[in-house]
Amino acid sequence: MRKVITYGTFDCLHEGHRRLLERAKALGDWLIVGVTSDDYDRTRGKINAAQPLMERVEAVKGLGLADEILVEEYEGQKIDDIRRLGVDVFTVGNDWEGKFDYLREWCEVVYLPRTEGVSSSEIRGAQRGVRLGLFGMAGLADKFRREAAWVNGMGIGWQCGEGEAGVERLAEKCDAVYVASHPRRHAADVRAALKAGMHVLCESPVALSGKEFRELAALAEAKGLVLMDAIKTAYSTAYNRMLLVVKSGKIGRVVSVDATCTSLMPPWKDASELATRWNSRQAWAPTGLLAVFHLLGTHWDRVRRKSFFAEGADDFDLFTKYDFEYGNAVASVKVGKGVKSEGELVVSGTDGYIYVPAPWWKTDYFEERHEDPGLNRRYFYQLDGEGIRAELVAFARTVAMGRGCGNVTQMESAAIAELTGKADGAER
Ligand code: CTP
Repeated sequence: MRKVITYGTFDCLHEGHRRLLERAKALGDWLIVGVTSDDYDRTRGKINAAQPLMERVEAVKGLGLADEILVEEYEGQKIDDIRRLGVDVFTVGNDWEGKFDYLREWCEVVYLPRTEGVSSSEIRGAQRGVRLGLFGMAGLADKFRREAAWVNGMGIGWQCGEGEAGVERLAEKCDAVYVASHPRRHAADVRAALKAGMHVLCESPVALSGKEFRELAALAEAKGLVLMDAIKTAYSTAYNRMLLVVKSGKIGRVVSVDATCTSLMPPWKDASELATRWNSRQAWAPTGLLAVFHLLGTHWDRVRRKSFFAEGADDFDLFTKYDFEYGNAVASVKVGKGVKSEGELVVSGTDGYIYVPAPWWKTDYFEERHEDPGLNRRYFYQLDGEGIRAELVAFARTVAMGRGCGNVTQMESAAIAELTGKADGAER
């Protein structure tokens, strides 16, 4: 029996896929189809498949051409599959011409002509294209431009700095905007963007008070637009797996969360120069606070905040420490632009603790540690584009589906806005 194998994403199954599978089947007597998993797809740039893995598998099955279906999950799996299953022919469309010649060591390789005029990308694009505008700091906007290139169905409409034009101008060419202006301007820019009819992804904090955030969220809702808080850590795979490990009870009940985020900024001449920069709370607190909220919720009993300010700049904190008290847990968040510390995250529980080494906000690794070292576990995950790539996918999905697919709730965003605002006023 001659066994044939082929692989693909098979998103929004179309005529091109069917014809490829028919011809693949004709190359032998038994057809094996490998459908790429969501995670694996991510690593090769086909991020944001419109359909989840199980739907894509069902669609391939529904064609009745595959004798066997498997899921492709890791680099190098093709070689494993071919050897394990005794495959005679590997085939794929000629858009991959030459890419799989290395498999000739194990089987015959056939590139089949691709069907003209149809592709998953086009179908997805027609279903939900997002033309994203980039507004604000060039450094951040450039990162988003690079990462958006990986996201299917997302194109960049226009990029402009805060001094060049008002954010509303972007509405001429864009239906959504990423706002990365100075946090002092966020609320005004977000309001203007929403009024101009654009969906908004805004660097956190979206506003500098909980009340202001809630007003913006209500405006977005009234206009049927998406307003999403941009905290890239919320989309890092390792961070999300860490949350699942904690929620599944591996370290018992969580009693303490301690998060530290610092980065030293270059020297400054005077207070006016500092006014152009993001202070410690604006730059770092959203990330640190989000970890506390994800693990313990936003219903704390008490929060105290202590800041140390730069000379002559009464709102520029060089360092701030937040201390939270919950019913039966505590938390601390330390953030600094003028103080350096170990940027780690520790989640202490009754049966063990989680240790995420510095810089925890863009980690690909964490450890579960116990009294008995034999129970310790290490977890490794790929981090693509610091989490920005997955954040853009979540944003595109939220826009397409009209419901929240993000990892930061409105309650969390409102609490972040409240606690990153003016230094006084956070006492409760
Ligand atoms: N294929 C084809 N003709 C098409 C589209 C795809 O022969 N018009 C083949 C591809 O060459 C591949 C298989 O179908 O061997 C699965 O392709 P996949 O990457 O899932 O689909 P595409 O439509 O190419 O997806 P995209 O538009 O995202 O690149």
